[in-house]
Order: sequence, then C-alpha cells, then structure tokens
Amino acid sequence: MASKTHTNGRHVVARRADLTDGHRKVVWIDGREIGVFNVAGTYYAVRNICPHRTGPLCLGRQRPLVAWQGSEIVYERENEILKCPWHQYEFDLKTGECIVDPSMRVRTYRVEQEGDEVVVYA
Ligand code: FES
Repeated sequence: MASKTHTNGRHVVARRADLTDGHRKVVWIDGREIGVFNVAGTYYAVRNICPHRTGPLCLGRQRPLVAWQGSEIVYERENEILKCPWHQYEFDLKTGECIVDPSMRVRTYRVEQEGDEVVVYA
C-alpha cells in the first residue's frame, strides 16, 4: 500500500481500526519499505531491510525478550523483538538494536496515533 503523503515527512499509513493489537503492515514511503507494528497498543516502525545481509526483516516472527534473572530464564516485553527470517538475528522494535550485537541497528521511525489515523514520520 502506498502511504498518503502530507507535509514534513508525515505519512498516514493506516486507520487505527485496520492495524489493531498484534497486527503489522508493510508500507512504501518515498521508496523505502517500512514495517509498522501494533504491539499491545504501542506502534513501532522499522525499515524492512535487515542490517545483517538485507533480509526482509519485517516478515519475521515477533518474540519476547529472553533474559537471565539469576539462574532463571525470563520472558519479557512480549512481541517487542523481531526475528529476521533469514539468519534469525533479533532486533528490538523500540530501539532497532540487534539483541546479540547492539552495534548493528535497523532504522526506526516515529509513529503516532492521530485521531483515527496511524502516522509514520519518515
Ligand atoms: S539478513 Fe537478517 S539476520 Fe541475516
């Protein structure tokens, strides 16, 4: 879907009713493919190019963050981690950082709910 372009990099990419919790969509904005995600009511947007070897990152599975607490494995931030379908590197939807190598980062974009619209600033 092509976005509706407005001024100052403001792009309406969906109606809120069409991008409900747990859903995503990939849009084109000025020649860039960007994935927009709704995770428990919070929207995230990242470039659909994995910084590892250019895989289609936004087609990957969403996962929780897996961390150690003492000797226990804990699962936090359900669905906020995006796993690339090519080589399984995981990226934080919020920051774009790769979990195992924070020096590698996917581009993120600001997303806002504005009335009935989901808007990406890119
Ligand atoms: S291209 Fe994404 S992990 Fe390799």
